[in-house]
Amino acid sequence: MPLTKVFSFPTPDKVSLALDQFLTQASSEAIAQTGKFTIAFSGGSLPTSVAKYLKDNQTIDFSKWYVFWADERCVDYDNADSNYKLVKEEFLDKLSNKIPAAQIIPISESLVNDSEAAAADYQEQLVSVFGDQKTPVFDCILLGIGPDGHTCSLFPGFPQLNEKSKWVVHIDDSPKPPSSRITLTYPVVNNAKKVVFVVTGAGKSQTIKQIVDDKDDSKPATRVALPKGTVYWFVDDAAAQDLSVV
Ligand code: 6PG
Repeated sequence: MPLTKVFSFPTPDKVSLALDQFLTQASSEAIAQTGKFTIAFSGGSLPTSVAKYLKDNQTIDFSKWYVFWADERCVDYDNADSNYKLVKEEFLDKLSNKIPAAQIIPISESLVNDSEAAAADYQEQLVSVFGDQKTPVFDCILLGIGPDGHTCSLFPGFPQLNEKSKWVVHIDDSPKPPSSRITLTYPVVNNAKKVVFVVTGAGKSQTIKQIVDDKDDSKPATRVALPKGTVYWFVDDAAAQDLSVV
C-alpha cells in the first residue's frame, strides 16, 4: 500500500523550515548511498517556499545535487513565466555556484518553440544522468497542486495522464498559462523514492481534502502513489483545515 504522510505547520515559514530539515536528511541519505542527490522542482509558489531556508543551508553537500524540473513552460530563460528563472533566482543563485552548472538541467532554451522536441530532448537529459536501462528513480520530486488538482503539468482529463512509457511529454493546450509546457509523466513521478507536495494557504484546503481524504481519482495529484516510496505533504494549517486527520 503506497505510504502517504501529512505534516502540517502553523505558518508557511514553518513549512519552509521543515522542508530545509527534511531535504538535509534526504540529501545526506542519498549521497551516502549513491554519491548523488537527484531532485526535481515544480514552479508556482513552490520554489520560494522550498528555498527560504534551504538557500542558506550549510550542512548539505550541494556539489552532489542534480537539479531537474518536474515541469517547465516552453519559454525563454529570461521570461517571467520560466520555472528555470524562478528556481534560479529564488534558490540556485543564492548557493554561490555550489552546484556544478552541468548538474543543473533545465529545458533546452533552443527548443522552447518546439515543445515536442523539447520534451524528447529533456528525456535524453534524464538518460544522461539516470541511464536508459530503466525508469529514472528520483531521490525527491517536489510538487505543487492547482485548484483543479493538477500537478506538474498533468491536468484533469488530459491525455498526458495516460502516458505509460515516455518519461517526459509535451502539452500545448495547458489550461494554466503558458499553454506550451513539458512535464514528467506518472511512470517517472511514481518511481521516485520521495515525492513532496508543498501546499500553503486556505485556497487549496478543499482540493487537498479531495486528494488526501477522498482519494478523488479525477484529480491528477491523487494518482501520485509510490509503490516503492513515500508521498509527503508539507502544508500549513490553513491548507490542512479541511483534512480529517493530520
Ligand atoms: C507550473 C507548476 C504547477 C504548479 C501548480 C501550483 O509550472 O505551473 O509546476 O504544477 O505547481 O499550479 O502552483 P501554485 O503553488 O503557484 O498555486
